[in-house]
Amino acid sequence: MKDPEATLGELVRDALTSELGSEYAQADPLIRPSDFADYQSNAAMGLSKRVGRPPRDIAGPVADRLSEAAAVASAEVSGPGFINITLSDDWIAGQASTQLEDPRFGVPLPRTQRIVVDYSAPNVAREMHVGHLRTTVVGDAVVRVLEYLGHDVVRANHIGDWGTQFGMLLEHLLDVGEDSANEQLAAGEINAFYQAANAKFKADPSFAERSRLRVVALQAGDRETLRLWTTLISDTEKYYNSIYARLGVTLTDADLAPESFYNPMLAGVCDELEAKGVAVISDGALCAFPPGFAGRDGAPLPLILRKSDGGYGYATTDMAAIRYRTRDLRANRIIYVVGAEQAQHFEMVFAVARQAGWLTGEVSAEHATIGLVTGADRKRFRSRSGSSVKLADLISEAVERAEEVIKDRYDDPEQRRQIAEEVGIGALKYADLSVARDSGYVLDFDRMLALTGNTGPYLQYAAARIRSIFARAELDPAQVSSGPILLGTAAERALALQLLGFGRAVTDVALTAEPHKLSVYLFETASAFTTFYEQCPVLNAPGETRQSRLALAALTLRVLVTGLGLLGISVPPRM
Ligand code: ARG
Repeated sequence: MKDPEATLGELVRDALTSELGSEYAQADPLIRPSDFADYQSNAAMGLSKRVGRPPRDIAGPVADRLSEAAAVASAEVSGPGFINITLSDDWIAGQASTQLEDPRFGVPLPRTQRIVVDYSAPNVAREMHVGHLRTTVVGDAVVRVLEYLGHDVVRANHIGDWGTQFGMLLEHLLDVGEDSANEQLAAGEINAFYQAANAKFKADPSFAERSRLRVVALQAGDRETLRLWTTLISDTEKYYNSIYARLGVTLTDADLAPESFYNPMLAGVCDELEAKGVAVISDGALCAFPPGFAGRDGAPLPLILRKSDGGYGYATTDMAAIRYRTRDLRANRIIYVVGAEQAQHFEMVFAVARQAGWLTGEVSAEHATIGLVTGADRKRFRSRSGSSVKLADLISEAVERAEEVIKDRYDDPEQRRQIAEEVGIGALKYADLSVARDSGYVLDFDRMLALTGNTGPYLQYAAARIRSIFARAELDPAQVSSGPILLGTAAERALALQLLGFGRAVTDVALTAEPHKLSVYLFETASAFTTFYEQCPVLNAPGETRQSRLALAALTLRVLVTGLGLLGISVPPRM
């Protein structure tokens, strides 16, 4: 089945071709939502110059042709040459019935691509911060959507597990003893561990010296040092995994593609870039100077690949990663879900990869930028005590507050705790996913937990309410799979039309890596359902109308549950 915008797009294009000739078969039909009809086409305005006729002269005959289509109830020219289009009720009802029978609820399957999604990517021995929460939650939603569309997705958790700071961390691990370090790290006392190491490093020259030697041993592949480093990493990974599990994030150990994974490739990458003339020695360091990047003084900006002391850095690893992903993983598309502050880094990495011929017309790379999460003071989010927040505590706080919000509804404490878990985590994730990912937002527990407005709990509640309608009717909504859907009132029509947009909303998220587009759609769907439910009795409606309204409710439930599922948000059995 085709969604309304795609259907109208085709009809407008056909009409343009018939009116103006086959050279207009690819013209953009410019279908937009309209305040005066269901949709409008602005195509005539766009084509007027090219055709050499005033827009209204094009719009008139196109509108006449559109009016004849079965899907269209009316098409009228308005203003300077807009075409206002109203869909026919029969067409909407028919499509909604088809959607009800469709196991994919109207979401099409595009041509499959291999897509690498680089997300989450916390740093070993550093606490995951709210910023990582966001890259994790957004990345995971993107991944779920892409997989739902049938793409072959490779999750890449590019964790920071390498660098000079590991010298001091390993020495500190030896000082406190492996067992107690293991315990501390797996419990998420990561900041404390790091800060203790750092304090000693600053205060104690002999510790600093040991740390430096330890880095050398690590880089040289000393066995005992590597063993210690591995425990350090697996301890922190235990902590990440506990967070992922609690958040319902799909990342597993199999998705770890840490910085150290690329170590064996770094020298080869540098050689290849140098041989290709993409990188040159400058002041003893190997640098690429991608065109178009200049520093404040106007001098070309280097991407440093190998420092003058022979060391490699973050950029080198990213060059190795992009070569690996394009050449070895054969990705068609790479999505980096990373903080906006790294925008220039990625622009430069992509530019150099294009120069090297790794990124081509067939392979794209994009930085899905993530904006800052702030506290009420609009500064980087901090805990109540002012220190940077432990992600695990943040999650717990969301759940505790959710329990306060729902506490009067449940007597059974076990059930209450379970639902609070789903509501609290759903609220936290939805707050993140309902804002355009590249803009910042204020983390506000009261707002995210509100039962009205564009919040996770509101959407969960909308779904739970539909379930309770079916429970009262002693029906299983999953068994409702045939209409006919009748559109007797404006509210039913609006809801049905809204439901037909699901496929487009999901497809848009995949194209743009912007999950908030699905959130907006789901919120609008829940709102359309609320209006419908206020105006249209369901269980007390007579015969066919009751059947049709139950069908609309069942379809709404599927769309909400599937859509929230694609955002990584579960719906409690009841609320
Ligand atoms: N670990 C990095 C950080 O915390 C993010 C890594 C993002 N991915 C990448 N390929 N550079 O900022």
